[in-house]
Amino acid sequence: MAQSKLQPVNDRLETFVEKQKSLRERAAAEKQATAIAHPNIAFIKYWGNEDDILRLPANPSLSMNLGSLHTLTTVSYDDNLPGDRLVINQEPVTDAALARVTAHLDLVRRQARLNAAARVESTSNFPIGSGIASSAAAFAALSVAAAAAAGLWLDEAALSRLARRGSGSASRSVPGGYCQWVTGNDKTSIATSVAPPEHWDLRDIIVIASQEHKSIGSSDGHRLAKTASLQAARVAGAEARLQACREALLARNLAKMGPVIEEDAVMMHAVMMSSRPPLYYWNTVTMDVIQATQHWRAKGLPVYFTIDAGPNVHLICEAKYAATVESEARKIPGVEDVLISGPGGPARLVDSASTVFGKSIGSGYNDR
Ligand code: PMV
Repeated sequence: MAQSKLQPVNDRLETFVEKQKSLRERAAAEKQATAIAHPNIAFIKYWGNEDDILRLPANPSLSMNLGSLHTLTTVSYDDNLPGDRLVINQEPVTDAALARVTAHLDLVRRQARLNAAARVESTSNFPIGSGIASSAAAFAALSVAAAAAAGLWLDEAALSRLARRGSGSASRSVPGGYCQWVTGNDKTSIATSVAPPEHWDLRDIIVIASQEHKSIGSSDGHRLAKTASLQAARVAGAEARLQACREALLARNLAKMGPVIEEDAVMMHAVMMSSRPPLYYWNTVTMDVIQATQHWRAKGLPVYFTIDAGPNVHLICEAKYAATVESEARKIPGVEDVLISGPGGPARLVDSASTVFGKSIGSGYNDR
């Protein structure tokens, strides 16, 4: 009985592994690959590094990949290119973002003993830089595509490690579903899946309080964390909050998980707001959404909030309550938009020719 229940999952895994293998072989031959990755929402947050260059986190974290949002990235190496080229959402980019991508490609080129410059083209179906972890999806997709096009055969752990160097939270966008990223050294600090996407049909209702690009990015924010005296207390309690959150997640118990994720998010923002100089990511709409969430909950709607490095509020609930939460959120004055996502699969190579935005892409993953 148990075996027959597992069969579809095993079949899917087998198809996935085979498809990835054939895409990897083709990528190595053509020196070109396309990968898709989802952003993730952290239930237990990462804030502050032990090592800023290696992006070794001060505390462990736990997240859910967001299946309906994605970044799609194509990397092609070309011996005739004088330098790396980057195009994001059809716009050529030459500033610090290109330098960050070049530094990341250098890690891959060094491992693959490759000298060629690369053309990198990336498109996302969600607003970037406003508190939806766009860098997570971006560096997870870039890592998978850049490694494959360079002919490097990296397993999930090695890809998570590589993605971490681009953006810490990107390590959690490499495995599928619900993922935990552990502290440690360069070798051991990687993310792994604690449950597949179908474990729990949660929804993240993302309430957009501002579409503007944030003025202080998270790389600078992580450096400020140690200037806040609250950071030590936040880090000291992170492991216990993570264990409580993980247990509730595995038991599909939102009444237990919700208060932990709210506490964890507020602790991170207390650290941000008390850094020197202080970082205020919230705006007045952020606070209105928090208060509305408390009000809905008091009236029996089981929904909890979390907030990343931006003003947007992520409302977490079970799928059956998502439509109600969305329509209530849209009534709040100042709310610019609402996006909804369920859990998503791992970062993976896709067949660029068969790529269709908005649809489940590639190898049998039913992202919601
Ligand atoms: O990966 P980074 O450097 O963009 O940091 C992400 C930090 C938060 O989104 C605020 C929290 C998290 O764990 O995702």
